Amino acid sequence: MTNTTNSSQLHEMRDLSHLGGGAERIEAQHQRGKLTARERIDLLLDKGSFREIDGFVMHRTHDFGLEEQKYLGDSVVTGWGTIDGRLVYVFSQDFTVFGGSLGEAHAEKICKVMDMALKNGAPLIGLNDSGGARIQEGVVSLGGYSDIFLRNTLASGVIPQLSAILGPCAGGAVYSPALTDFIFMVRKSSFMFVTGPEVVRTVTHEDVSFEDLGGATVHAEISGVCHMAADSEADTLYLMRQLLAFLPQNNMEDPPFAATSDDPLRMEAALDSLVPEDATRPYEIRDAIRMIVDDGLFLEVQENYAPNIVIGFAHLGGHSVGIVANQPAHLAGVLDINASEKAARFVRLCDAFNVPLVTFEDVPGFLPGTGQEHGGIIRSGAKLLYAYCEATVPKLTVVTRKAYGGAYCVMSSKHIRGDLNLAWPTAEIAVMGPEGAVNIIFRKEISQAEDPAQRRAEMVTEYREKFANPYVAASRGYIDDVIEPHETRPRLINALEMLSNKRDSNPPKKHGNIPL
Ligand code: HXC
Repeated sequence: MTNTTNSSQLHEMRDLSHLGGGAERIEAQHQRGKLTARERIDLLLDKGSFREIDGFVMHRTHDFGLEEQKYLGDSVVTGWGTIDGRLVYVFSQDFTVFGGSLGEAHAEKICKVMDMALKNGAPLIGLNDSGGARIQEGVVSLGGYSDIFLRNTLASGVIPQLSAILGPCAGGAVYSPALTDFIFMVRKSSFMFVTGPEVVRTVTHEDVSFEDLGGATVHAEISGVCHMAADSEADTLYLMRQLLAFLPQNNMEDPPFAATSDDPLRMEAALDSLVPEDATRPYEIRDAIRMIVDDGLFLEVQENYAPNIVIGFAHLGGHSVGIVANQPAHLAGVLDINASEKAARFVRLCDAFNVPLVTFEDVPGFLPGTGQEHGGIIRSGAKLLYAYCEATVPKLTVVTRKAYGGAYCVMSSKHIRGDLNLAWPTAEIAVMGPEGAVNIIFRKEISQAEDPAQRRAEMVTEYREKFANPYVAASRGYIDDVIEPHETRPRLINALEMLSNKRDSNPPKKHGNIPL
């Protein structure tokens, strides 16, 4: 039997620990439109599944009057629980205690759950809301951050790591989320930057608000740092739950199977008329994706960044897949620096976590121009090429229209270990588009013709008939089959099942040297 005095002491201490920085600061947190660290955990995890540890840990600092201010649990809540019944480890920074700032004890608590997550092979979720390094603890805080960065890096590719930014995240503190697989942000109440508006004003004389410097919209649309943004904390946490449904617990497992009533043999007639007859006209590739995947459900990642390429997760016949698709409705689906890097990181993520890749290809090539060349499109394009070459997960490709030039090679072509490469009859697979090709190879002939415009048009038609189709590639086996668009779903699901025991590997090495 528990001694009543001891029991009441425990309850008192627990209550105190749960109160964080106190009722007033909790009220202030709510006034800012933000939830507390514990309220967030309750929304994120399955009801009642959270088990907290280190609720009695306190800081050990005596400087700047800190010895007078001690809070049970310090400024972060840590532990584990489940999402859809699957184990996850969590830390949730408590802004009501020293502004969620990170000192020695705070860092030790985070490192403890990180170590447990890695050892037990389960995802780690960080809910960030912090004023950064705890100023009173000085260099010890920097040491704490570094301990976390090391663990983020060692866990990379072993367990999924997800970060939500739910308040401030400034200075070097941004680098822990940046090392993780996904960053989620809340519009209007979260921000991330290396140096804040004050420093920016002093150094560059720019006058910029928190939101315009590092708000969710900036990072979701301009920098690409944020993978998913939502309007509320509840929606953000819900997105995190959804995302985990596509990922395995760790790199030694396969993603969970999601049973569906959507018929794997379903044919979709509307796909047959999706690609316009005029090859210069755009269409929405997301329409194709939604028609093909289970129940039309596609969880898009980095939706508003580099929209000329679309990436995200879906299920096909219950199998989790990562989709990479050129977007003809934006910049004709051209590959530029941002699109290449966006897709490259995604391909590597899927490969690390055994998620098969499905590539929809309609790409006129790499974007020309000094801006792109001087910005290093060579290096960025090489990242995507490297990522696809290196990936050993099942790789399926569907060429819906253009597959031109270097972009043909890059987008999961047969030559770089594509497992099944299909093309729709509308596919045009060639070194370059008819207009450009004719201008180069028949320049003399056209200029010397009686009617150069007419001769040019004839040449374009001739080239189109000869090369702008899938059959030259198919005659070489570079395309495994040409299919009717409406057959795409059953063909992809069949291929995933055919490849379910795929074994492939890369030569042993410490690590490759991806062109960073
Ligand atoms: C200690 C901190 C703190 C910090 C905030 N607080 N930041 N305590 N160390 N870094 C405390 C405040 O004193 C206050 O305590 C409470 O948290 C809430 O802060 P407010 O300023 O009242 O809140 P708000 O107005 O919402 O502003 C939030 C803020 C601001 C924007 C985060 O507090 C701020 O600018 N803080 C400093 C940010 C910073 O420069 N951090 C260091 C970055 S360098 P009371 O007792 O009043 O509730 C860094 C290096 C990391 O992080 C390197 C890693 C490699």
